[in-house]
Amino acid sequence: MTTAPTEPTERAASQQLLVQLLDPINRADPYPLYAQLRNRGPVVFPKANLAVFSAYRDCDEILRHPSSSSDRLNSTIAQRQISEGAELRPLGPPGFLFLDPPDHTRLRRLVSKAFVPKVVNALQPDIRALVDGLLDRIAENGRFDLIRDFAYPLPVAVICRLLGVPLEDEPKFSSASALLAQSLDPFVASDGESDDMIDERMGAARWLRDYFLDLIERRRSRPGDDLMSGLVAVEESGDQLGTDEIVATCNLLLIAGHETTVNLIANAVLAMLRHPAQWTALGADADRAPAVVEETLRYDPPVQLAGRIAAEHMTIGDVVVPKGDNMMLLLAAAQRDPAEFDRPDVFDPDRKALRHLGFGRGIHYCLGAPLARLEASVALSAVTARFPDARLDSEPQYKPNVTLRGLSALTIAV
Ligand code: HEM
Repeated sequence: MTTAPTEPTERAASQQLLVQLLDPINRADPYPLYAQLRNRGPVVFPKANLAVFSAYRDCDEILRHPSSSSDRLNSTIAQRQISEGAELRPLGPPGFLFLDPPDHTRLRRLVSKAFVPKVVNALQPDIRALVDGLLDRIAENGRFDLIRDFAYPLPVAVICRLLGVPLEDEPKFSSASALLAQSLDPFVASDGESDDMIDERMGAARWLRDYFLDLIERRRSRPGDDLMSGLVAVEESGDQLGTDEIVATCNLLLIAGHETTVNLIANAVLAMLRHPAQWTALGADADRAPAVVEETLRYDPPVQLAGRIAAEHMTIGDVVVPKGDNMMLLLAAAQRDPAEFDRPDVFDPDRKALRHLGFGRGIHYCLGAPLARLEASVALSAVTARFPDARLDSEPQYKPNVTLRGLSALTIAV
């Protein structure tokens, strides 16, 4: 039974706001909608087995809660579909972002060595060389598209190198990655989406799976010093890891590496160009980069929301979430919560003791955080120093994605 303070009329108003949030017309500035949702408090939709949270305190608590599950199979909706004969994982297990302990712990441990700060920092010279190469090309033109010419190519090259995916194959899997990123959006399966889109996404998932299976076989006969070869060696040494799990892990890392850091770099550039004093300050002092990165992760986060399932009955504030219900955490709303942050709508890299949720929190805290921080810091300090007079030359264009929200194009004059 759901016990919650939401009255039907209140619920209808919140539902209306959520529908507006999904509307691409609001992608450029969803923050007024987030504020309205947050002011209304948590909202429950008993018939949809869903509770939506937008306060910092609630999101923080749910991310750290031992009864929060990331495995969709634990949801009442999935259980119902299974009992009706649906096959929920036709392509094998999901990445460990969508698993609970002990599988999550085992798989995360196997790849975490590749992301510790010492290993990541060793990539710095390569990242700097990639950034300088991209900026050299931009300098020849006088104007550039931030996404196409700068924010996209860098993280993609880095993640391909780390995983051991040939960079020349990138054009083939970039569209698959973009399609799969869209599938993280809420209600993709229930908002009347056409069968064509679902088929297209399944096709992309199947294609990427076959691509990885082929690459894994190649790494088996000719190992390199990359992460995929490392995982293949673990698989061959015992029963800790299966081939399907290697595919799912590579998939997760490739999509995380493709779709998030791009948006962090781009969101920071946009925020600074709208606050030109910040652009100039960073150009003059590269040591300001970490503060700009952290404030961007709060002010305009690449991951706007996260989902969890109540593995047991949970009480969050005065909301009781029944076992099996989905919880939607509007992280981007939580990060502008005035109960947690002073002047939350102001972009201010000089904030002290910033505890943002941009990389999540708890056991699923972003594994790639040290890498994302390094890439973004190098990229942002270099671009501001190289082009002190840069200015926006077009309105920002956004992709339709809600969860992994990000720019599709932004022209800058230098
Ligand atoms: C700015 C860039 C990035 C942002 C904002 C970001 C954000 C996040 C967030 C919010 C989560 C937690 C999701 C949840 O709890 O449901 C997460 C998890 C994760 N991220 Fe990132 N991420 C970024 C870059 C990366 C990169 C570059 C990689 C690796 C190549 C990566 C790999 C992962 C993995 C593997 C997880 C799952 C961790 C787990 O389940 O234990 N991320 N990320």
